[in-house]
Amino acid sequence: MKNCDLPAIITALGGRRALQDLLGVGPSAISNYLARGTLPQWVHAPVCEALRARGYQIDPGSLALVEPDNGTGRTNGSSTGAPNGGSVLLIVGGGIAAYKALEVARRLQDHDVAVTGVMTRGAQEFITPLSLSALTAQKTFTDLFSLTDEAEMGHIRLAREADLVLVAPATANLMARAANGLADDLATTILLATDAPVLMAPAMNPAMWSNPATQDNLARLRSRGVNFVGPAAGDMACGEEGTGRLSEPEVIVSAARDLLDPAPKGPLAGRHAIVTSGPTIEPIDSVRFIANRSSGKQGHAIAAALADRGARVTLVSGPVAIPAPRHVDVVPVETARDMLAACEDALPADLAVCAAAVADWHVTGTRNGKMKKTGDGPAPTLSLAENPDILRHLSTHISRPRLVVGFAAEAEELHANAIAKLARKGCDWIVANDVGPKTGTFGGDNNTVHLITEAENESWQPMQKTAVASKLAARIAAHFGDNND
Ligand code: C5P
Repeated sequence: MKNCDLPAIITALGGRRALQDLLGVGPSAISNYLARGTLPQWVHAPVCEALRARGYQIDPGSLALVEPDNGTGRTNGSSTGAPNGGSVLLIVGGGIAAYKALEVARRLQDHDVAVTGVMTRGAQEFITPLSLSALTAQKTFTDLFSLTDEAEMGHIRLAREADLVLVAPATANLMARAANGLADDLATTILLATDAPVLMAPAMNPAMWSNPATQDNLARLRSRGVNFVGPAAGDMACGEEGTGRLSEPEVIVSAARDLLDPAPKGPLAGRHAIVTSGPTIEPIDSVRFIANRSSGKQGHAIAAALADRGARVTLVSGPVAIPAPRHVDVVPVETARDMLAACEDALPADLAVCAAAVADWHVTGTRNGKMKKTGDGPAPTLSLAENPDILRHLSTHISRPRLVVGFAAEAEELHANAIAKLARKGCDWIVANDVGPKTGTFGGDNNTVHLITEAENESWQPMQKTAVASKLAARIAAHFGDNND
C-alpha cells in the first residue's frame, strides 16, 4: 500500500508502546514499519478499530487520519521520537558490582536503547551519578524529594515512561524492600509505581543469596512477574566463591533486549520458514571467485516479513552487505553446495522461499593459494560443473515443506519461462521478476513481480522490495490460514 502518516497514527494511538501492545509485536517491528512508512495489510483492521475507539475517523484505504474536534484520544505520543531500541530506566543498587552497571548502560546504547539512570544512596558510595550521566547523556536521578527532579520529571512519570525498568545490581536489601512494597527512596518508589516490565540482576555475597530470606524475596518478586537474570557463580569481590556474582553485562543486555523486543506474534506463529537469499560465490582459487550482483534485499525482506508475522525463520544467506533482520536465525554460507547443506540442516520446515541467486556452476579443480600468471603461454581455462538445484531439491525432498516458493529472474519471455520453471522445479508458487538490464532489479529497491501458481497468474504493481515481501508473506499467511492442519 502507499505510504501513510505513520508517526501521526502512532501518536494518535498513544505512542509506540501502545501500537506494540495492540499488535503484539516488539519495537523492532515498529521501527521496520516506520522505516518503510507503511503498515502491513494484516494490521490495518486492528489499527482502524483502535483509532476509532479513541475517537478518530480514519480512511481504511489510505489510513489517513481525521482529527476529532473535541481532542479526545490525544496523548503526547512522546515515544515516537525515542531511539528505536526502546528505553530503559536503569536502577543501580549499592554493591561493589555497581561499576558494571556503567558497562551495561553503554552496551544497551550500542543497541539503540535509550538509558536513564537512577542511583540509590548506596550506589553513590561506589560510583558517581556524574559517571552514569556522562555515559547515558541524560540526567541521573537520585533523590525522591528533590524539588528540581520533581519539577523536571516527577517520579511517577519516570517510572511510567520507560519500556523496561532494569535493576543492576539488585542488592539483597533492594530486593527485600521491593518484595515488601516499601517506597522509601526513589528506586523503590519507581519499582512500586511502574507498569513496565522489571528485570533484576542480583549481586551479593553467596551466603546472602542463599539465605532463605533472600530466596523468599526472590520467589515473591518472581510471583509478581519480576524477571531475573543471574546471579552467576564464580569468584566474588569479597574473596568468597559461590553464586552471587552479577551476570556479565552482555548477558544482562541480552535479557533486557529480549524483554524490550519479544519475538513478534502473528498468523505464522508456530511455523518454521527457510528463506534463501543473496548470491552464492564459487571459488576459483583461494582469492578469486565467481559471483553475481544479487544484493539479498528481496530475500532478507521476505525473511523479515515472515518473522514479523510470527514465523521462526532460518535465513540461509550468501555474502551480502545488508544487515540481518531481527528475530531471524541467519546461517551464512558461500557456495551453492554449502547453501544446500544449510537448508537440509534446517529441515523440517513448513515453508521454504528460495530467493537466492544461486550460481548455476562451480569451478572444478579449484586450487589452494593464488593461481599465478605465467606471462607466456595460453591463459588458463576454467572448467565448470553444475551446482545442485536447491529449490528442486527441497521441492522433491522426503521432508518437503508444505509450501515451496521459488523465484524466476528472467530477462525475456518471463511468463512462459516461469510456468515452465514451476513444473521443472516442482515448487508450488513462482515469483517471477524481470531482471532485464533496464529494470534495475538487481541491487535496486524496487521490484515488479508476478505470482504464478498452478491455478493463477497475478501481476503485481511495481513496488518496493519490502512491499513485495510484505504482500508475499501475507499471501503465505493466508495460505496457511486456509489450509490449517
Ligand atoms: O533455474 P533458475 O536459476 O532460473 O531458478 C531460479 C529459482 O531457483 C530461484 O528460486 C533460485 O533461488 C532457485 N535456485 C536454487 N538452486 C539453484 C538454482 C536456482 O535454489 N542451483
